[in-house]
Amino acid sequence: MPLEEDLRALAVDIAREAGALALRRRRDGVAIAATKSAVADIVTEADREVEALIRERLRAARPHDGFLGEETGADRGTSGVTWVVDPIDGTVNYAYGIPVWAVSIAAVTGEPDPRLWRAEAAAVYAPVTDEMFSAVRGGGAWLDGERLAVNADRGVAGALLATGFGYDPATHAGDLKRVARVMPLARDLRRIGAASLDLAYVAAGRLDGYFERGLNPWDHAAGALLVEEAGGRVGGATGGRPGVDMTIACADALFDDLAFAAFGDRDPDA
Ligand code: IPD
Repeated sequence: MPLEEDLRALAVDIAREAGALALRRRRDGVAIAATKSAVADIVTEADREVEALIRERLRAARPHDGFLGEETGADRGTSGVTWVVDPIDGTVNYAYGIPVWAVSIAAVTGEPDPRLWRAEAAAVYAPVTDEMFSAVRGGGAWLDGERLAVNADRGVAGALLATGFGYDPATHAGDLKRVARVMPLARDLRRIGAASLDLAYVAAGRLDGYFERGLNPWDHAAGALLVEEAGGRVGGATGGRPGVDMTIACADALFDDLAFAAFGDRDPDA
């Protein structure tokens, strides 16, 4: 088995086990353990417990790999592979009982920085619907056994889009201006609340496109590979790599029009 396929298989196994743990904890009842950068940026005990489980499983299987996790930070490894993990993406949904959240695990090579890394394998697991989205570089994106493809035949007019609002309140005025520009064009707009699932849904053709400012590496690492392997494009407002300034994901043919509709002059603050 090529290395990337081994990585995908491991990500899938661990995401499934982690998702089952998060689901049990959700059924037991969830309390917010702490507020982080903003009132919307929360962590539950389950986030911490699930990340610890993922970290432990990865350490046991591949002790020389690096790790970059939402709750416990970064550890450089020596193998050249780094695991980028969001134990519960969509924590606010999770805490409130909205059943739209996921475990997101990506294996990347190169520098553990989204501007520099190359994603090799990914798993995004939605425990409530028991849906496993996965991808391996060069091997396609999959929802369980079904191969995924982005919607390649839509323009911005009539596109079903999703967005999100990063946690930094200073960026919200710009977010709302983008929404005001895009809404009159799009078929409709969703704020789903879990970036990894926004991206998985673009890969699956459940959304035509997605854009958000303020994503952290663990929010988009796995989902971006899903979109690319489903034939789509993921980038920043001016093309380039996706990152904290902007992440846009859609079919290649829609990308420039969506970036223009959302940004006009390509200034994320405008
Ligand atoms: C958040 C979700 C949300 C997005 C935020 C993310 P978290 O991740 O993906 O949809 O709008 O930017 O940080 O905190 O729930 O893991």
